[in-house]
Amino acid sequence: MKFAPFCTGVAERADADVRAKEGLPVGGFAVLEGAEPPELVEISEGPCKFLVDVRKGHKTGFYLDQRDARMAVGSLANGADVLNCFAYTGGFGIFARQCGAASVTQVDVSRDALELAKKNEALVHLCGTTMEYVEEDVFKFLRKCRDERRSFDMIVLDPPKFAESRSQVMKAARGYKDINLLAMKLLKPNGVLATFSCSGAMTEELFAKVLAEAAEDAGRDFQTIAKTRQGADHPVALSFPEGAYLKGVILRAVD
Ligand SMILES: C[S@@+](CC[C@H](N)C(=O)[O-])C[C@H]1O[C@@H](n2cnc3c(N)ncnc32)[C@H](O)[C@@H]1O
Repeated sequence: MKFAPFCTGVAERADADVRAKEGLPVGGFAVLEGAEPPELVEISEGPCKFLVDVRKGHKTGFYLDQRDARMAVGSLANGADVLNCFAYTGGFGIFARQCGAASVTQVDVSRDALELAKKNEALVHLCGTTMEYVEEDVFKFLRKCRDERRSFDMIVLDPPKFAESRSQVMKAARGYKDINLLAMKLLKPNGVLATFSCSGAMTEELFAKVLAEAAEDAGRDFQTIAKTRQGADHPVALSFPEGAYLKGVILRAVD
């Protein structure tokens, strides 16, 4: 096989459970062509660099589908106190740091993900951002922030899929409402909430309804300042509109 100049090999990850549902064999990581990659592969995304665990990390090791959203969040982060919930290896928080955030709090339940987030922090140079890492359940952490009267200029909510199928959508909607309501209350005046749903079964309309209800219960007004989708390298087949699984809404509080 002949590779493009920047490509030194091709590997396969065949470990997603969904393969079994499709009748495909479930395997592990295998190099199909070329060189065995290092334990952590360094990638660039816009102005940022990240270390990616291509063998054991989620998906390909990095949530490439959120590329456009990370750029959008970075563009709003200068001088901000940022809370990055469901941080994984720090993506949104690293962008905020690179773009001049005053502070970034990265929250995730996975210790391994946060350890890699700390390594990613070290790849950002010349930066005065205060960094905090919290290994905790986001549902609990948001309540703790409420009780401690903490507030933030920007909050990112990028949870895992809450609905695996249509039958779980209403339960998922309650989960989305819970975290969005808590986050809306924690925002400083004119603060920004970047909120996402990667549940294909959760329609854009239902997600918008959940956010509107959360805002009403929070007693605050918001403007939608941007909407994001999965990156262009995750195209949606015309015959399978459900493939548009990732929805992002960036809201600004009107105070
Ligand atoms: C969709 S990924 C986030 C991707 C990340 N925003 C990025 O850009 O790379 C979801 C993350 O949520 C974490 N997670 C799942 N449930 C959680 C919970 N209840 N509290 C905190 N983190 C959780 C997972 O460990 C995973 O890292």
